[in-house]
Amino acid sequence: MSDIVLCKKQNPIILGIESSCDETAAAVICGRKILSDEIISSAEVQALYGGVVPEIASRAHTDAVDEVTARALKKAGIERGELDAVAVTYGAGLLGALLVGLSFAKGLAYGLGIPLIGVNHIRGHLAAAYLEDETLKPPFVTLLASGGHTAILHVKTETEFEALGGTLDDAAGEAFDKVARVLSLPYPGGPHVEALAREGKSSVSLPKMLKGEGGYIFSYSGLKTAVINYVHNKEQRGEEWSRADVAASFQSAALDILAEKAVEAAIERKVSTVTAGGGVIANGYLREKLSALCGAEGLKLVLPEKKHCTDNAAMIASEGLVRYRAGLFSPLSLNAEAYLPLL
Ligand SMILES: Nc1ncnc2c1ncn2[C@@H]1O[C@H](COP(=O)(O)OP(=O)(O)OP(=O)(O)O)[C@@H](O)[C@H]1O
Ligand SMILES: [Mg+2]
Repeated sequence: MSDIVLCKKQNPIILGIESSCDETAAAVICGRKILSDEIISSAEVQALYGGVVPEIASRAHTDAVDEVTARALKKAGIERGELDAVAVTYGAGLLGALLVGLSFAKGLAYGLGIPLIGVNHIRGHLAAAYLEDETLKPPFVTLLASGGHTAILHVKTETEFEALGGTLDDAAGEAFDKVARVLSLPYPGGPHVEALAREGKSSVSLPKMLKGEGGYIFSYSGLKTAVINYVHNKEQRGEEWSRADVAASFQSAALDILAEKAVEAAIERKVSTVTAGGGVIANGYLREKLSALCGAEGLKLVLPEKKHCTDNAAMIASEGLVRYRAGLFSPLSLNAEAYLPLL
């Protein structure tokens, strides 16, 4: 970055690019205001295979990245020359998929002579809450629940986090996807399980996850196995069972504890605000539960809009803004990382 003379603005115009999995996304923000937010998804093709095929994802990103960026700039009414920085996911994710977005962003930043800001995808999920509330400021406690991660974090400043605990095995989203498969629902399973659960009652007895344990640890593998065993037993015995009741029972067993522990952490850490991020936070049952528990404890709750819970580029631009303000820019030699530490 030594060849770029930067005059930092308080409300820069930032282009965000996301390509870590099956969504090619681009968004433009000015300060915390979203000017555009575009996605081209290969999820429909991936659904044919019951999950994401990395090579198909990479090829789809290559086809889509230029178009989705052009759409985002057009919708925002912004010329490339007006951009102040390009923020891009560099990890974690599918290596080939990440490389497409990262290489594109590097070319753009280099060509325009503006900073490149490499963003950790998970930090992006957590920064989605900033787009929801102009006034949101740490300290707060945040609940992360996505396809690959489940954790509770104490956010001390915009760049300083402490992980209070997380899952010992599967992530919450992963558990939804696996249970969806057992219930013959399509991928990604979360929204389908939620829709089915609305038609059922939480009447199937499933193990509560590590409820009696202290701290902020979760485990989804026992719960998932209990659902699989329940369904297989019923089928082997030829007994009637309700898919909707299983969905509702799993949903409450999987999500109640997340909301309870997030609120417990906020009280323990003496913060007055709870936020959340990641695909599972799009779940209406969880949002209501968090809202009720926070309300009862007098805590402020800031949840990203549902479309900013699953992968999107506005959240990457939002974390880009945090890093821009902190002067945390990336060299053009930045590489894509399939694995990155949570924070
Ligand atoms: N309404 C919902 N209820 C429950 N889970 C949901 C809902 N909507 C999406 N999900 C789950 O969220 C996950 C996708 O979230 P996200 O896009 O954040 O994950 P990811 O990018 O694959 O993983 P990560 O962000 O951890 O790398 C999927 O597992 C999906 O089933
Ligand atoms: Mg994600």
